Amino acid sequence: MVFLGPPGAGKGTQAERLVAATGDAHLSTGDLLRAAVADGTALGVEAKRYMDAGELVPDEVVIGMIRERLESHDGGFLLDGFPRSVPQAQALDELLDSLDSALCVVLLLDVGRDELIERLLARGRADDTPETVAKRLDVYLEQTEPLIGYYEARGLLARINGEQSVDEVFGEIEAAVSKAC
Ligand code: AP5
Repeated sequence: MVFLGPPGAGKGTQAERLVAATGDAHLSTGDLLRAAVADGTALGVEAKRYMDAGELVPDEVVIGMIRERLESHDGGFLLDGFPRSVPQAQALDELLDSLDSALCVVLLLDVGRDELIERLLARGRADDTPETVAKRLDVYLEQTEPLIGYYEARGLLARINGEQSVDEVFGEIEAAVSKAC
């Protein structure tokens, strides 16, 4: 399964609930990159420059991180924040083919820009400043939104109204997952 959606849509919040219910592994590229930054690894030092600017970390870095985890994992998984560009989605297709695996659903959390800005500024993570949030939203529109058509064309997309309570959003997600997976 994949969670797709703009910054602040609730991907991390809902991913935690979904993996608690399904027992799948939660793979969040944002969490993995923040852990690398906190550990001060070479990858973390490189990634931090992009994250602080609200830009995407280079595809080869995140694709390598995901490849390593999927190749060593047995069982279901939920990708949160990956893929985020068409080259990342193509790399994921190739990786899943090589593992004889496939996606069952791509869950798109739909939330309007004003609500996203309000949520992120209220949260206050290091990259939740007004300038970085504006940049992250623009990057989402340019580089990640094309994935909606990419997955819709494959019949994998489920649209979820993310502007409801956390419980209501989760109810829609559970219904979409039980229908598709
Ligand atoms: P990442 O960590 O993936 O951040 P993001 O996509 O910007 O998403 P957020 O974590 O900000 O939001 P979310 O959708 O998970 O919402 P959340 O549940 O937290 O990426 C960070 C950076 O890492 C990127 O900018 C990039 O530099 C790099 N990166 C990551 N992946 C990459 C990749 N694949 N390729 C390249 N670079 C990559 O909720 C947000 C807030 O809203 C919370 O306070 C929450 O409590 C609240 N909330 C949640 N649901 C609701 C609700 N229903 N109602 C009201 N409030 C709610």
